[in-house]
Amino acid sequence: MPLTAIVLAAGEGTRMKSRHPKVMHKLLDRPLVGWTVDCARRAGCDRIIVVVGHGAQEVRDYMGTFDDVEFVEQPQQLGTGHAVRCVFDALYSGSNPLNIQGNFIVLYGDSPLVRPQTISWLATTSAARKDSCTVLTMTPPDPTGYGRIYSEDGQVKAIIEHKDCTAAQQEALRECNSGIYCFEGTALAEGITQLSNNNAQGEYYLTDMIAWLNSRGSAVSAVHCKEYTELLGVNSRVQLASANKIMQQRINQQHMEQGVTMLDPATVWIGPDVIIGQDTEILPHTLIFGHTTVGTDCVLGPNTRLINAKVGNNCLVDETIIVDSTIDNHVTCGPRAYLRGGTHLKDGAKAGTHVELKNSVVGKGSKVPHLSYLGDTTMGSGVNIGGGSITCNYDGVHKNKTTIGNNAFIGSDTMMVAPVHIGEGAVTGASSCIYEDIPAGALGIERSPQVIKEGYAAARQQRLEKGNK
Ligand code: UD1
Ligand code: MG
Repeated sequence: MPLTAIVLAAGEGTRMKSRHPKVMHKLLDRPLVGWTVDCARRAGCDRIIVVVGHGAQEVRDYMGTFDDVEFVEQPQQLGTGHAVRCVFDALYSGSNPLNIQGNFIVLYGDSPLVRPQTISWLATTSAARKDSCTVLTMTPPDPTGYGRIYSEDGQVKAIIEHKDCTAAQQEALRECNSGIYCFEGTALAEGITQLSNNNAQGEYYLTDMIAWLNSRGSAVSAVHCKEYTELLGVNSRVQLASANKIMQQRINQQHMEQGVTMLDPATVWIGPDVIIGQDTEILPHTLIFGHTTVGTDCVLGPNTRLINAKVGNNCLVDETIIVDSTIDNHVTCGPRAYLRGGTHLKDGAKAGTHVELKNSVVGKGSKVPHLSYLGDTTMGSGVNIGGGSITCNYDGVHKNKTTIGNNAFIGSDTMMVAPVHIGEGAVTGASSCIYEDIPAGALGIERSPQVIKEGYAAARQQRLEKGNK
């Protein structure tokens, strides 16, 4: 029996006070709607339909990167019931509801913490019970804002929105609607056309499906999720911060269980697509996002940011930023190095203090220890770059390449004006501006002769003191 997911992501999210649609706000480094879609996919849904409306283009641009997602437009945001109706109007118009196959999981794009196992559990329970609708419920300590579950003898009779509850109902009904349901397709297709907007918010509520199903004698039950934190909705930035904290703890715990050490997990932020090897230690204030992989036995941090980084084994990454770059094994970075734009440090290489490397290859065992900028540079193995050396790679129009052969020795404060080649084993004199290629094994030096003036210091002092009288 096919399982279809409908993800509602058309709402504006006024409570976010934002120019962007709510579902594009990020939980860690992934938009809220991305979490929900990922969850539906992992729960085994065969078809995923996302309802877009407010800020539709922004959502489509992001979701467009996934080829298993279909979109339906909800031109006006008239409520969650109306959003689901738009799906049936767009994709099933003219179909006899009785021919609609399988069950439908409806999820809201603002509930990113739900686990795929919970959705599969909802789907299998619903199918086993032969329910027309099964509602996933929770009992949060503060139920403010959530729709309340009204049941009798195991049958959910209605969901009453917070704003439509009497004061007594708000007090008495503690079980809440998570906004996740499993509907039998034909029942959903029929009922969705029957909703009215006669309520406190003047909206077509999906939650009114429950009372409608009851009115025709269909079975509606609840599955109660013990861990309410899984089902928290994000309606404000304060709730977004709480959700981030929950996901941070969940992800960090998984890594620790897999053999990663964290001195202070509360200050370590790791995205959902990150892989970290055993016995790696993460020090405080470290953020690891994107498709980053880290090998075993590394020390990362403190104060480190890795985004789409590939880190080998036994690396030391101290107060460093690595973006879209690779370091192999036994590499040392920092404190305060910045690697970006496809940089690659090979085994045993080093990028030291205040070193920026862009689109550059640092060969095996080569070292860039202090205060350097190298851009568009390819260097062989065993090279030493003296402190303060930089490549002048940009002429205002083009980015030019610097190549440095194996075992070259670049004296401190060398300017390498690209395009330029420094041969294997060549040496540059400290403080030289190198603008012509240096052959292998040669010295390139560009420096004015030094002048010595004996006794100058004392004479200068005398002169200055006289002048002061
Ligand atoms: C909703 C439920 C409430 C439940 C809570 C769980 C209804 C009427 N209420 O309330 O019972 O306890 O979620 O978090 O369903 N959306 C659209 N189109 C619209 C309106 C909303 O696509 O016209 C989308 C939003 O983008 C959002 C989701 O539906 O992702 C839920 O809407 P929201 O306004 O957040 O509903 P809640 O007030 O949280
Ligand atoms: Mg909500």
